[in-house]
Amino acid sequence: MRRAFATILGGLTLAGGVSAPAEAGDPAAGRQVAGMCRTCHGIDGHAVVPIAPHIGGEPAEYLEAQLMAFKTGRREHEMMSVVAAGLSAQQISDVAAWYAGHSAHASLPEGVSEGDAPQACVSCHGADGISLLLDAPNLAGETNIYIDTQLKAFKRGQRTHAIMSEVAAGLSDEEIRKIADWYAAITLEIDAPAE
Ligand code: HEC
Ligand code: HEC
Repeated sequence: MRRAFATILGGLTLAGGVSAPAEAGDPAAGRQVAGMCRTCHGIDGHAVVPIAPHIGGEPAEYLEAQLMAFKTGRREHEMMSVVAAGLSAQQISDVAAWYAGHSAHASLPEGVSEGDAPQACVSCHGADGISLLLDAPNLAGETNIYIDTQLKAFKRGQRTHAIMSEVAAGLSDEEIRKIADWYAAITLEIDAPAE
């Protein structure tokens, strides 16, 4: 009896351990993890290499979902797949909490107004590239190389998402370049969390 009970308990514990979501992210622990990210994304999430996106001030939900996608192979990238494979689910929650704790501010370049923004994108990504949704990223100040690469990845099916795959499928390379230039011309500032 005892033995069977223990086996059942053991089975339950294992199942729980595998499927349980990570504890809520701890930004202080995440700051330590971010030491592994800073050469590309900066410690504050303002990217320092043109092929890497700014991630400071993004919603934690979005950051966590993307890191899990790299870890499970649903999204692939030669650098990020390796980085994410080495992180536990808890480290992913922690580092997402660290970067999400920052705040992102955008300013449009001189001489343009919100009305000039790509209208097909503003309802989710904002005219100034600050996202209005928890599951969508900011585009403000991303390099045009990065935006262009992601839209083409959605278009070719190397990255998939219910909404974005459809949005990107409808864009010509020329439209992609114009939209990428709009968001790339916006100045992004990222503030560290208040101590
Ligand atoms: C060697 C450079 C490098 C390092 C180190 C690195 N990244 Fe990245 N990261 C990239 C690149 C490049 C991309 C863009 C991938 C693509 O094109 O799909 C990216 C993409 C991401 C994304 C997706 C963001 C978005 O807007 O879709 C997240 C989240 C991310 N990285 C988090 C991290 C975290 C957290 C760490 C540290 C644990 C880290 N990265 C370390 C280069 C790096
Ligand atoms: C209905 C909402 C919605 C609309 C409209 C929309 N997007 Fe998105 N976009 C999203 C979501 C959600 C994601 C996150 C996809 C994922 O999880 O992989 C995303 C991701 C992206 C990314 C990847 C950015 C990164 O950091 O990796 C780019 C680039 C992008 N969108 C550009 C656009 C452009 C350009 C338009 C207009 C032509 C547009 N989107 C319209 C919701 C939207």
